[in-house]
Amino acid sequence: MALPSEVRRIKGERVNLRRFRLADEPTVWEGRSSAEPMALPTGPGRRSQLRKRLLASGRFVHGSLDLAIESNGRLIGDVQARMGAGQRLPPGVVELGVDLYDPDQRGKGYGAEAVALLTTWLLEHGIAERVQASTAVGNLPMRRVLDKLGFTFEGVMRGFMPVGAGREDFALYGVTKAEWRAPHRVAQSR
Ligand SMILES: CC(C)(COP(=O)(O)OP(=O)(O)OC[C@H]1O[C@@H](n2cnc3c(N)ncnc32)[C@H](O)[C@@H]1OP(=O)(O)O)[C@@H](O)C(=O)NCCC(=O)NCCS
Repeated sequence: MALPSEVRRIKGERVNLRRFRLADEPTVWEGRSSAEPMALPTGPGRRSQLRKRLLASGRFVHGSLDLAIESNGRLIGDVQARMGAGQRLPPGVVELGVDLYDPDQRGKGYGAEAVALLTTWLLEHGIAERVQASTAVGNLPMRRVLDKLGFTFEGVMRGFMPVGAGREDFALYGVTKAEWRAPHRVAQSR
């Protein structure tokens, strides 16, 4: 498996993925703090930890890669890729997460394009052989994103995620390198 590459910018048609800058911190913090528990069951975490993650953005650090989603030059959300033994994933398997901070920015195709761009980049750079994502069974927008990009629904992980006082069932989706038909061209990825 090739060593994970560094990302500066991945250009799409309507969104770009780019490294975070320290100036992004207040927007990311506010976005993560206001996320619904279903979208971010672990909560926003510590702010000092967030700063470290922003500084490490663009590289896999401890098996985790964070990138900003930008639309019309504005930071609107983030995508994450997780891999490796530290994330309890077999070699070649990468797990994605995505969050658009402002509900007004949702439902416009940005989330799907961001997931497509990152999936293409991971598969084309030999980092992933399989890309997977899971979400609460009731998170219909996320499930629709994965469906429309051609991820396969592989089943329900019952009682998977602690949320509040209970545990949520999570739907698991995956796509292999052989199956992936990139819906968006990655114009520039280094
Ligand atoms: C999930 C998320 C990233 C999707 O991004 P997005 O830009 O809104 O997604 P898109 O616009 O590409 O697609 C959303 C799809 O869901 C559909 N949808 C929206 N609300 C829906 C609902 N209540 N029921 C069914 N489908 C719904 C939309 O119609 C659209 O499908 P279409 O393109 O066939 O019309 C975004 O909504 C988000 O950030 N949500 C909060 C964070 C979150 O839940 N992240 C995932 C955690 S695993």
